[in-house]
Amino acid sequence: MIEINHLTKKFGDVTAVNNVSFSVQSGEVVGFLGPNGAGKTTTMKIITGYTAPTSGSVSIDGMDIQDHPDETRAKIGYLPERNPLYDEFQVSEYLAFVAELRGVPRAIRASRISEMVQSCGLEKMLHKPIGDLSKGFRQRVGIAQSLVHNPDLIE
Ligand SMILES: Nc1ncnc2c1ncn2[C@@H]1O[C@H](COP(=O)(O)OP(=O)(O)OP(=O)(O)O)[C@@H](O)[C@H]1O
Ligand SMILES: [Mg+2]
Repeated sequence: MIEINHLTKKFGDVTAVNNVSFSVQSGEVVGFLGPNGAGKTTTMKIITGYTAPTSGSVSIDGMDIQDHPDETRAKIGYLPERNPLYDEFQVSEYLAFVAELRGVPRAIRASRISEMVQSCGLEKMLHKPIGDLSKGFRQRVGIAQSLVHNPDLIE
């Protein structure tokens, strides 16, 4: 599912990621461990297409992320560590917005959102502004948004 080959990322003099290679098979659930500053977040940002590597390659489901940026991003569900959300949106509005952005077909959008609301336990929060939610419920909204387009790869 994920193939990383000799990935390196430099920020000026700082080598954030130094020649990293690994692969993750479909169905595998893996953790990514290392000391602070080791380059974990930078690696995740490269895999998800937020930043480009200095050298090396990443392929997802057989497609190189630099040759196929849109197709590979469409396969990924990502909850960034800072979980950015729009505080002024209601939960229902936000999930509808992300579903549209993620290309969930209009005909199945409502049912897909209601599945996410159920599986993430968001029923009672649907009509609250995100800015009023407790931290745990904000995390649940972050999980729901990362899964709404039924991605092959969840990060
Ligand atoms: N945008 C940037 N500009 C310059 N240096 C950066 C940038 N992003 C990361 N770095 C540097 O790259 C190195 C790796 O950082 P990274 O955030 O990937 O580490 P990490 O493994 O996620 O650490 P942590 O466990 O603290 O989250 C660090 O030295 C960091 O200061
Ligand atoms: Mg980090």
